[in-house]
Amino acid sequence: MLGTTPESVARRMGAETFRRVVFSEEELGRRTRAMGEAITGHYPPDARLLVLGLLKGSFIFLADLVRTIQLPLQVDFLVASSYGTGTLSSGDVQLLYDPTASFEGRDVLIVEDIIDSGNTLRRLVPLLESRGPRSLEICALLHKRLTTMEPEARWIGFDCPDEFVVGYGLDHAENFRHLPFIGSL
Ligand code: IMP
Ligand code: MG
Repeated sequence: MLGTTPESVARRMGAETFRRVVFSEEELGRRTRAMGEAITGHYPPDARLLVLGLLKGSFIFLADLVRTIQLPLQVDFLVASSYGTGTLSSGDVQLLYDPTASFEGRDVLIVEDIIDSGNTLRRLVPLLESRGPRSLEICALLHKRLTTMEPEARWIGFDCPDEFVVGYGLDHAENFRHLPFIGSL
């Protein structure tokens, strides 16, 4: 019979050096539902919500989160180029996929898997702001608290230990995104 511990599941999924569960499936489910309720309560009933997932890491979190937001909304995705070690200027972020929907008058909610250095959002937010949304908020599942953001994410799932974590959308070299929990390698 196949083992059912998270460690044995992770190993079968290819994570041979899997060390420990950091956030279990149950914790992720509970926290995601609570975040969905908070988001539902934040926006007025006439909000024109556009949930914008940053690919690829947010795909599982976003799928669970939107099913707990009891408001009309639309979903789109955005692919930003990964940055090098160079400057942090916000002018040079490249979008490899850019949503077709207009932001004008919309309430844009960016969904991110994890805030590590914060550079991705630091570069992206001014660009998205310049497109004239009515509001722009950030929802991040994890925050390593290595940096402070301006603006800070309004909704954060968990503070994350400063370890490399995978699963629930997060990858290492494109692997392990399908682990149903978050763990460290
Ligand atoms: P940033 O450093 O805040 O710009 O993080 C950018 C991206 O790096 C995140 O959206 C993740 O895709 C990835 N990343 C950062 N830390 C981790 C980690 O611990 N595991 C997996 N991906 C990570
Ligand atoms: Mg990644």
